[in-house]
Amino acid sequence: MPSRATDAVQKFDSSRAAEYGEQSRIALAGYDACHELAACMLAARLGSGGAASILVAGAGGTGQEVLTAARLEPGWTFTAVDPSPEMLALTSAQVAQAGLSGRVRSVPGYVADLDPLERFDAATLIGVLHHLPGEADKAALLAGIAARLPAGAPLILACNYRPYASQPLLLKAWGERWRMQGADAATVAAKLGRIQQGAEPPASEQVVADLLGEAGFEAPLRFFSSLFWGAWIACRRAPD
Ligand SMILES: C[S@@+](CC[C@H](N)C(=O)[O-])C[C@H]1O[C@@H](n2cnc3c(N)ncnc32)[C@H](O)[C@@H]1O
Repeated sequence: MPSRATDAVQKFDSSRAAEYGEQSRIALAGYDACHELAACMLAARLGSGGAASILVAGAGGTGQEVLTAARLEPGWTFTAVDPSPEMLALTSAQVAQAGLSGRVRSVPGYVADLDPLERFDAATLIGVLHHLPGEADKAALLAGIAARLPAGAPLILACNYRPYASQPLLLKAWGERWRMQGADAATVAAKLGRIQQGAEPPASEQVVADLLGEAGFEAPLRFFSSLFWGAWIACRRAPD
């Protein structure tokens, strides 16, 4: 039985998870639609009604990838990997609240820390790539995922894919979205400053396709986009 201290931690995580989820849904217009379509794309590729093991890389935060896909496909199980124990704890709180803990293995750490012989039927990498500095780190993460997928297995990749300064109108519209949701001028300015100080997103959709190709994936198919954000499905190429 959970102790009172554990209960308190879970309540704290749940309220932080709710706040994080609210912010994520403002920052990405269509957040829920993107996650729903990601699950639908996986089911369309893998087939519905069966068992499948899904690698969820960068799973910390809302845990939405897991919640949405688990609801659609009761036979799927998930390995949720994230280097931030705090972010992973937020996801675990959501997973527990949804009664899904038995279907989710949480792994604090990096994809590279997983058993190199372990294979998954599919993987997701949502909201992570544009936070990584430089192309080498991005390429290494994609290669680590590719190494754990058999030929034909799908990856759902979603990230911002244009440098923010390259599209001033999109950036301004992103600020307007925060204002639309009630943020005052100082908060909007702070949000705009913060997003531009982070790591650079891939420079274009072509760069995303090149990164995926070099990691061992077939050409990606985009199924969602919203301002700077895109979401694609790409299948693992058969080895040469
Ligand atoms: C913005 S959150 C994404 C949350 C979630 N996937 C979603 O869609 O809401 C980015 C997450 O990526 C994680 N992360 C950072 N570097 C990573 C890496 N090299 N491999 C896997 N996850 C990473 C962070 O710890 C953080 O939890």
